[in-house]
Amino acid sequence: MSLTNKTALVTGASSGIGRAVSNQLLDSGVKVLGLCRDTSKLPKGVEPIACDLTEPAEIDKVFASLSHLDILVNNAGLALLSRIADGNPADWETMWQLNVQALTICCQKSLALFPESGGQIINTSSMSGHRVPPTGGFYSPTKFAVRGISDALRYELRADGNPTRVATVSPGFVDTPLLDDYFKGREDQLAQTRSSMRLLQPEDVASSVLHILNTPLHVEITDIQMRSVDQKA
Ligand SMILES: NC(=O)c1ccc[n+]([C@@H]2O[C@H](COP(=O)([O-])OP(=O)(O)OC[C@H]3O[C@@H](n4cnc5c(N)ncnc54)[C@H](OP(=O)(O)O)[C@@H]3O)[C@@H](O)[C@H]2O)c1
Repeated sequence: MSLTNKTALVTGASSGIGRAVSNQLLDSGVKVLGLCRDTSKLPKGVEPIACDLTEPAEIDKVFASLSHLDILVNNAGLALLSRIADGNPADWETMWQLNVQALTICCQKSLALFPESGGQIINTSSMSGHRVPPTGGFYSPTKFAVRGISDALRYELRADGNPTRVATVSPGFVDTPLLDDYFKGREDQLAQTRSSMRLLQPEDVASSVLHILNTPLHVEITDIQMRSVDQKA
């Protein structure tokens, strides 16, 4: 679709992938509403929306204040290292609330704001949503859920005759601050990963998001899997 003058809501727009997506959208003439908790870190040109996505009442308030959207980039996410065998259930809850529940609520609420000709939802999953890495813990299942929710929504929209398109983007390791949480307590492994691999950059993922948005309206890309050529699994 033509992106000029479209309006996009990008969650997690202040850092990493969301920040790069916001910058590339701005370059394409899109009005970007950037949602995160600390809006002081948002890129210039993004309209700030302060919201803690783990608080459903805050999400309700945000959507009640919006009148129109063309694009939702559901990107905010957290990768706490929390094992199933002995991890802290409080960590599972936080990841579930942010990575899954908030993403789903944002999908649902965006539908009412999209034009009749349809909007575009892009949900950030992960390669950890395609196969479970041995250290993936509870994070990996939240990313499987993102794919399941995206597929479920797509079928519902098709059944309803709603032309809104739903895509997921599934990157392997991307060089962002999220890796510090994912490798917490394993800093030597993170250093080794950073030194041995040409990690994906946030801009690489953002380019795929823009590719999805720039396809003709009859084309629905459902998932883009991507990883560094140096990532072995
Ligand atoms: N980096 C990777 O290797 C990788 C690989 C595959 C998939 N992903 C996925 O890509 C997405 C973006 O990750 P990233 O690597 O770009 O992470 P990041 O650099 O750590 O950025 C996370 C963003 O989410 C926001 N956020 C965190 N908690 C929030 C909350 N409770 N409410 C609202 N916003 C919140 C943060 O802003 P505030 O702290 O100000 O709220 C920040 O803007 C995530 O869904 C992640 O799972 C990342």
